[in-house]
Amino acid sequence: MADIEQVVRSEKDKEKSVAMTGRALRLWKLKLKSRLVECWRVRNTWRTPRYLGVVLVLALFLVSSFVWRISDVDPSYCKATPSRTVASQEKFTIVVNTFKRQERLVKSIRHYSRCPAVDAIRIVWSESLTPPRELASLSTLPVIFDVHEKNSINNRFLPLENVRTEGIFNVDDDILVDCSSLYFGFQTWRTARDTLVGYNPRIHSKSRGECKYNYKQWWHVWWGGSYSIVLTKAAFSHHKYFREYTENLPRSVWDHVHKNKNCEDIAMQFMVSNLTGLPPVWVQGSYSDSGVIDFKGGISTGANHYDKRSECVTKFVDMFGGMPLVETSVVAAPMSRWTPMKTPPAVWEWIHKI
Ligand SMILES: *[C@@H]1O[C@H](CO)[C@@H](O)[C@H](O)[C@H]1NC(C)=O
Repeated sequence: MADIEQVVRSEKDKEKSVAMTGRALRLWKLKLKSRLVECWRVRNTWRTPRYLGVVLVLALFLVSSFVWRISDVDPSYCKATPSRTVASQEKFTIVVNTFKRQERLVKSIRHYSRCPAVDAIRIVWSESLTPPRELASLSTLPVIFDVHEKNSINNRFLPLENVRTEGIFNVDDDILVDCSSLYFGFQTWRTARDTLVGYNPRIHSKSRGECKYNYKQWWHVWWGGSYSIVLTKAAFSHHKYFREYTENLPRSVWDHVHKNKNCEDIAMQFMVSNLTGLPPVWVQGSYSDSGVIDFKGGISTGANHYDKRSECVTKFVDMFGGMPLVETSVVAAPMSRWTPMKTPPAVWEWIHKI
């Protein structure tokens, strides 16, 4: 009898304990819920549930092993062979073209002084024989005024004395290219030193039915998907082209630019493309252009601006004895604008390792 009672009792206990665990589970859930609510409400009494820690550690492990794999860096390895840093220390000179807009020049000097790889800032100065040399104090870099007695729009391409770099960044005083975009443009130019590398593409076209050429605005570039000119209002070039422009450009082209105070950038592009057979390179980048809101001084805001520019192209073709401009659809863009998922082949690169 006692045995039976015992069995019955133990069965009851079992049921009880099952019920208990069921209740305990519910209780625990409730506790967790209230804990979460509490955590949600009062940030500073945050107590991390233990499993969250495990998840975090796991995520950290995955991320770090991924980074380790793609970075492929072993600091203890290859210490004996330092990488060549001489080439990467190459610098460039900024040549600012300015005319009677000192507040812009001040902004320009201030801005470009902060950019990396700049060797010196040269100002094309044709206003007077006494430039505001005190502006040099705005910068820790050498700021040199190249004073010209005669005013000509061609002055911006006069060879520079004592220039210490091959790379020149030609820029108008109203354009401020972001330092990172500028540095990227310089790196692009270093891989294409004989051509013009700039931020503003334009395209020429032949007039239908007429023996004339047209100079087209940026949206034709966008629509047609190609360009043949980059504007020297913000472009890199080799310094050798300054001498070439000043000494060997057909005199008629030089005079046309001088007289009309326009098209020096088209002339430069004609000359470089004629010498090399190469198109320019358009680099993607960001800059601010205060010239677009200037309706007084800027030359590119006139109503017949495009007619004048088209006339330049047509005349230059005559003067050069042919059309040297080369069309291209190549665009240089920094890696930061690239994602592995953007192009289909890149997806396969993840799976199929070659
Ligand atoms: C343009 O290139 C052609 C062919 O190389 C050359 O004969 C001519 O002198 C060049 N013209 C100018 C103005 O540089």
